[in-house]
Amino acid sequence: MPPPTAIITGASSGIGLALTKHLLSRNWNVIMADVNPPQEKLDKTLFIETDISSWDQQASMFKRAYEWNERLDFVALNAGIDDRDDVFHSISGDPKKPPRRPGMKTIDVNLTGTYYGIKLAAHYLSLPSSTATKPQPGGKIVLTSSAAGLYPQPVIPQYAASKHALVGLVRSMASVAKPHNITINAVCPTLVRTSLPPPGLLETFPPDKITPMRTILRAFDELAELEREEWRGGGGESGGVDFS
Ligand SMILES: NC(=O)c1ccc[n+]([C@@H]2O[C@H](COP(=O)([O-])OP(=O)(O)OC[C@H]3O[C@@H](n4cnc5c(N)ncnc54)[C@H](O)[C@@H]3O)[C@@H](O)[C@H]2O)c1
Repeated sequence: MPPPTAIITGASSGIGLALTKHLLSRNWNVIMADVNPPQEKLDKTLFIETDISSWDQQASMFKRAYEWNERLDFVALNAGIDDRDDVFHSISGDPKKPPRRPGMKTIDVNLTGTYYGIKLAAHYLSLPSSTATKPQPGGKIVLTSSAAGLYPQPVIPQYAASKHALVGLVRSMASVAKPHNITINAVCPTLVRTSLPPPGLLETFPPDKITPMRTILRAFDELAELEREEWRGGGGESGGVDFS
């Protein structure tokens, strides 16, 4: 009988990798979707190279992921990148040098790619499953937003706008997802010790303002109900991993 199965985008490093290991310790199977391969080979995972900003790539990843176990229980739409443009620092002051078309990759990945993921997750989570440990269609979606999704961030406005948009999507979709037995939530960490923050930034932050990985994993536990008894049906360990 296939154990509970999750898709995690941006699973090859940072928060996504920590969440992958957390789920593996609870006997889940995990599809790791990322533009980059993971640095280590993990049992009970399937890596699928995916750029989430491409609909075709993400649709093909979900199809393969579902076919792996013919079940899907939890989707963590976690992949994200920082700002790739600036507005006010690039003003030329020269009438012959108007602005060039801005880079919009941050919106393409963080917002459009995550929206694609919600659309696909809703479909595959809703498919009937014949496994006893998934008695009815439905499941859990958790987006990785940010404290930048709640507060202004003058240095990274596209990033902040994309993360605000994820909070807006959750607030707008939660009630319509519910009748489909799907919950949709977001985690909003402050700074986290991963490769995402620019070099030197973490050192300028008071340590108590940095979100520990174990706090984020606890949030995923709550929002995706990872401790649910029926999801332990595969007989895995329930101890988890200490990522503090
Ligand atoms: N680190 C922080 O301070 C912090 C704080 C709040 C929120 N977040 C959010 O957490 C999430 C994870 O970031 P992280 O801190 O673990 O950073 P990270 O850079 O360690 O991990 C991000 C992963 O996403 C992958 N990725 C990037 N673009 C992708 C794409 N187009 N398609 C698929 N995968 C892609 C990268 O290869 C990488 O493995 C992001 O959404 C980020 O915005 C991070």
